Amino acid sequence: MALTATSTAAPAAGAGYVEAPVRAFAIATVFWGLVGFLMGVTIAAQLAWPILNLDLEWTTFGRLRPVHTSAVIFAFGGNALLGSSLYVVQRTCRARLFGGEDMGWFLFWGYQFFIVMAALGYVMGVTQGQEYAEPEWYVDLWLTFVWVLYLVAFAGTIMKREEPHIYVANWFYLAFIITIAMLHIGNNLALPVSWGHADSYQLASGVQNAMIQWWYGHNAVGFFLTAGFLGMMYYFIPKQANRPVYSYRLSIVHFWSLIFLYIWAGPHHLHYTALPDWAQTLGMVFSVMLWMPSWGGMINGIMTLSGAWDKLRTDPGLRFSVTAVGFYGMSTFEGPVMSIRAVNALSHYTDWTVGHVHSGAMGWVGFITFGTLYWLVPALWRKRQVWSQRLIEWHFWIATLGIVLYITAMWVSGIMQGLMWRAYDELGFLQYSFIETVEAMHPYYVIRFLGGVLYLTGAGLMAWNLWKTITESEAAEEARAGAPAPALRPAE
Ligand code: HEM
Ligand code: HEM
Repeated sequence: MALTATSTAAPAAGAGYVEAPVRAFAIATVFWGLVGFLMGVTIAAQLAWPILNLDLEWTTFGRLRPVHTSAVIFAFGGNALLGSSLYVVQRTCRARLFGGEDMGWFLFWGYQFFIVMAALGYVMGVTQGQEYAEPEWYVDLWLTFVWVLYLVAFAGTIMKREEPHIYVANWFYLAFIITIAMLHIGNNLALPVSWGHADSYQLASGVQNAMIQWWYGHNAVGFFLTAGFLGMMYYFIPKQANRPVYSYRLSIVHFWSLIFLYIWAGPHHLHYTALPDWAQTLGMVFSVMLWMPSWGGMINGIMTLSGAWDKLRTDPGLRFSVTAVGFYGMSTFEGPVMSIRAVNALSHYTDWTVGHVHSGAMGWVGFITFGTLYWLVPALWRKRQVWSQRLIEWHFWIATLGIVLYITAMWVSGIMQGLMWRAYDELGFLQYSFIETVEAMHPYYVIRFLGGVLYLTGAGLMAWNLWKTITESEAAEEARAGAPAPALRPAE
């Protein structure tokens, strides 16, 4: 099947598209990113120097940790996904957002309200104690309402499209929206203790509850942190490189195999637990198989640069996106390895997992978002380019160094931790007390803290640079905001 890039005539720059809420989402992404990274640095410091817990219930590690995870995943990542998806779906469908400007603003404010409600609950100790699903029932209900409208807006725009083809980025965004709705409802089925009471009872208990929680948790990784950001990759890398997607056929195989395999892999979080062995094995096998679609996607992203490799030298924004795809490949190689039961016996509960998380989170999710913002902000504000290319370079190198410090420190600390826990002396007693293993990790926690400070500093430079872009950059002669999609479709 021969493939050509579409070159349909573009409407005038941004004509008719809903843009103001998308701009607000872009600003919120930067804002929540800074908050989330700052919280990460704070809890990293608390782990290195426990006195920083301040002996106050609101500022202890236990309460601030979910503030960090939710701020980076749902506030930083979520705003990036909602904003970019609303931008992409309108351009690739050549249709105005279903529900118009009002819908865009409702989604924006409705989502920010969810974030603030969730965070307030965490610091006050209101939580249902399920990782990445900590908010209580009243916050969950609100998010369900906002999310269903998000689906209506997104799917409605696809349905009224003027472009016959549904561009691949939209499939990934749609899978992300639908699956997150399903996971969110499935994992949050709970009964309030009584009306007017913030606490609740989960419907499932014991190992069933654990199974549902990790079906949710792993697919939050698969569909929130992966499928949604792959949607971003499939639109913004071709845009930045000014090349069509490397292989249309590979993108189809990538999509269907990824969404089919991810949904079964959750039990790899429950190795050596009360979960039946067969379910653990199923999770492991599907995780190992996931390696293939993940790398297929990585190849499709990176090879999109074929014939435009020189752009990596001249466009530091693109460098972020491509490095992101490299980190995606790295973490999706590491994940399947860690899912093998014998490896997990060493890695589980250790900092190795935390290192794996952050190579995916800081490297893939963070970098693809930075790359997107460096393209999107000038496009949305009709600027010729980002205010300072030099500052993007600085951001890139500082943040990369930060990640390298973070993940290498966690690999060393995690493997050492696992080995110390399982070391026996000649009489069969444990060789190390738990506190000795904690002491041994101290230097690595300091290095991780420094890595975090670098990453946060880089994000600060980005915020400054984007602000200057909005306020001072030269206006674009021909805005790219209305440019056609980088769509690939079979030649007619
Ligand atoms: C400045 C950058 C960052 C720093 C310093 C940082 C630091 C931390 C620390 C100290 C923890 C707790 C680890 C533990 O409990 O032992 C953590 C957990 C976590 N962070 Fe970050 N983080 C950063 C960026 C990010 C980003 C960008 C994301 C996602 C997009 C992210 C997602 C997570 C997740 C999912 C966890 C929970 C990991 C687990 O339970 O295994 N972090 N982070
Ligand atoms: C093929 C893809 C992947 C597989 C098979 C995989 C597998 C795994 C495994 C086996 C664990 C450790 C479970 C445990 O011992 O508790 C884990 C943890 C985790 N992974 Fe991955 N991973 C993959 C990709 C990713 C990516 C791309 C990200 C981030 C963007 C990510 C984020 C996480 C998080 C947040 C956790 C920690 C969960 C927790 O305990 O709180 N993973 N993954």
